[in-house]
Order: sequence, then C-alpha cells, then structure tokens
Amino acid sequence: MKKFLKWVGIIFALLIGAVILTLTVIYFQTEARFKRVYETPNDVVAIPTDAESIQLGKRIFQYRGCEGCHGEKLEGKVYLDDPAVGKVISTNLTSGLGGAGGGLTDADWIRGIRYGIRPDGTPILFMPSTEFYYLSDEDLGAVIAYIKSMPAVDNVLPPSSVSVMGRVVMTLVPAITFIPSELIPMDAARPSAPEAGITPEYGEYLSLSCKVCHGLTMSGGVIPGFPADWPPAPNITFGGGSALPTWSEQDFIDTIRTGKTPLDKELRAQYMPWGSYKFMSDNELKAVWAYLESLPKLEYGNR
Ligand code: HEC
Ligand code: HEC
Repeated sequence: MKKFLKWVGIIFALLIGAVILTLTVIYFQTEARFKRVYETPNDVVAIPTDAESIQLGKRIFQYRGCEGCHGEKLEGKVYLDDPAVGKVISTNLTSGLGGAGGGLTDADWIRGIRYGIRPDGTPILFMPSTEFYYLSDEDLGAVIAYIKSMPAVDNVLPPSSVSVMGRVVMTLVPAITFIPSELIPMDAARPSAPEAGITPEYGEYLSLSCKVCHGLTMSGGVIPGFPADWPPAPNITFGGGSALPTWSEQDFIDTIRTGKTPLDKELRAQYMPWGSYKFMSDNELKAVWAYLESLPKLEYGNR
C-alpha cells in the first residue's frame, strides 16, 4: 500500500511538473508574439479637416463599433475582463492624461487602425483591425479626422492583457488569436473598397464585423473564442432556422434601429451591437439587407 501511494505521488508530481513546463513554454511563446515588431506598408491617407468629413467620421466611428469599445468621449474603458480571455482595455484616444492622442502622428493613426500596429511596431491586442484593414482611404481619413477633433479627456488606464487561459487557447487552437495583426496580409496589395450604393458589394463592406459573430457565411452558431456564457448567433442568411425570410427590408431597418425584431423579440445589446449599427443611414442598412439577401441560403450553424 505504501509503495502504491509512493508511486501515485511520483506520477502526480510528474504530471504537475509537465503542466508547469507546458504553461511556461506557452507563456514565453505568446510573449514573443506580443512583442514581435511588424513591418507595415507606409500608406498615405489624406486626413480632412472640414466639418462634413468630421461628421461622417463620427458616424463611421459609431457604426463600425469604435465608440462601443472606446466610449462616447473616446475616453477608453475596461471593455471586458474575463479570466478565459483576459483584460480588453480600450485606449483613451484623446490627448488628455492617459490618452494616446497627443503622441500619435497621422502615420501612427493609419498604422494603428488599419494594421493594428503601435508606433513601436508591436501589435495592438484584441482590436479588430482585420475589419478596419478594408476601410477605404476616405472612410479611414474621416474617422481619424473625427478622433483628432475631439476634446481631451483625462483617463489613465492599464494596458490590455491576455490571461493564462487565453494564452493557452491562442497557442493550441490555430483559428483563434487575440493579435489581429497576425491575420493581416501586410505584404499583399490591399483590396480597394466598393463604391457606396445600395448594392450587395457595399453591404458586404458594411457587414465585415457581423461575421465575427454570425460566421463567415452568416449562418450563425456558437461564437469561437468568446466567453462561454455568450449566446450563439442566429442564422441571418435566408436559409433554415432563420427569421429573415419573414421580414421586409423595412422590418430589418427597424430591427437594427430599435433592437426589437418584428416578433417583438428584444435583441440584447451587450451581445448584438445594434446600438452601433443603428447609426448606419437608411441606404447603408438597405445595402446590408441586399447583401444578406444575396447570400447562399444555409442551414443554421454552417459558419
Ligand atoms: C473590440 C473593441 C474595439 C473596437 C471595436 C475598436 N477598438 Fe481601438 N482599441 C481597442 C483596444 C483593446 C485597444 C488597446 C489594445 C492594447 O492595449 O493592446 C485599442 C487601441 C486603439 C488604438 C491604438 C492607440 C495607440 O496606443 O497606438 C487606436 C488608434 C484605436 N484603437 C482606434 C480605433 C478605431 C478608430 C476604431 C474603429 C474603426 C477602433 N479603435 C475600434 C479596442 C477596440
Ligand atoms: C458581437 C457579436 C455580434 C455581432 C458583431 C453582430 N451580431 Fe447580430 N446577433 C448576435 C447575437 C448573439 C444575436 C442574438 C441576440 C439575442 O438573442 O439577444 C444577434 C441577433 C441578430 C439579428 C436578429 C436575428 C433573429 O433571428 O432575431 C439580426 C438581424 C442580426 N443579429 C444582424 C446582424 C448584423 C447585420 C450584424 C452586422 C452589421 C450583426 N448582427 C453583428 C451577435 C452579433
């Protein structure tokens, strides 16, 4: 019996040792990914200063979700603090105390938003530059113009960080990373944005963020890499299990504006960010609807 217990003890100690060793390796591997210095293209984007462009920039800042993360005054905030992922703390973008705004050149703004890269070349965590990469020069310029026009707010925040669990996940699951720049093809030619209009193409351009949750095919399902208590995203193609075939274009616009579906279901804004998308114009929402209508009609969950 004594001998048996001794062996159990040894095996247990070996297992713990193996776990500690694995976690240490994962820690240093992810640390190297966080500290990697990236080369980005030196894009030149005109930053307008007229009131109309600043107003457009504000709307883009709202419907692209920047405001949802960075706050109405661009003051930054703790957006998510979950041991399974880490601390998602958005930067204060103003030139106030604790703000990044004062120290960034136009080239820094462009690199930060479009490629997810800081002035020192290291990657910005969590921020979906994988979507903002596609923003046209005009849209990106307007957003930067808006940010620069905003008054200084003092708000000192700690940097974002990925938890131990988050590091394990981004090491073991190749499809998940909390470093969006790793997914941006820095060497390839950037695709040009489609012309604005009520077209499926422009609708797709406006719908890039939907795919994070509703899936690349928009057929919904459990959202990979998100906290376990999140609800799955519904199917928003016109296929099996989707509510959309019973909606009109106007129903869709009203749903995104009010957060209430034609069947009076309240969409929970903390999961489905309609509070950002409601800032799209009627024509922009019509383009999104045209895009959803144009998609292959898939059964729920074929993300
Ligand atoms: C999902 C939340 C989220 C969204 C959406 C988002 N950001 Fe961020 N942003 C962050 C986080 C988090 C950081 C800081 C990450 C870190 O500490 O590594 C950040 C950092 C930045 C920085 C870097 C500042 C610096 O220190 O260099 C800029 C610029 C920025 N965001 C602008 C924008 C703009 C413009 C948009 C919309 C087009 C946007 N963000 C949308 C979360 C977000
Ligand atoms: C951060 C995740 C997330 C993003 C981004 C997102 N959605 Fe959703 N969406 C959800 C979730 C979760 C629900 C279910 C909400 C609920 O039940 O309260 C939902 C519900 C919906 C519904 C209602 C469907 C139904 O059957 O009632 C529509 C329509 C919709 N989303 C469209 C969009 C569009 C269009 C976009 C992009 C412009 C988008 N969503 C972006 C997570 C997301």
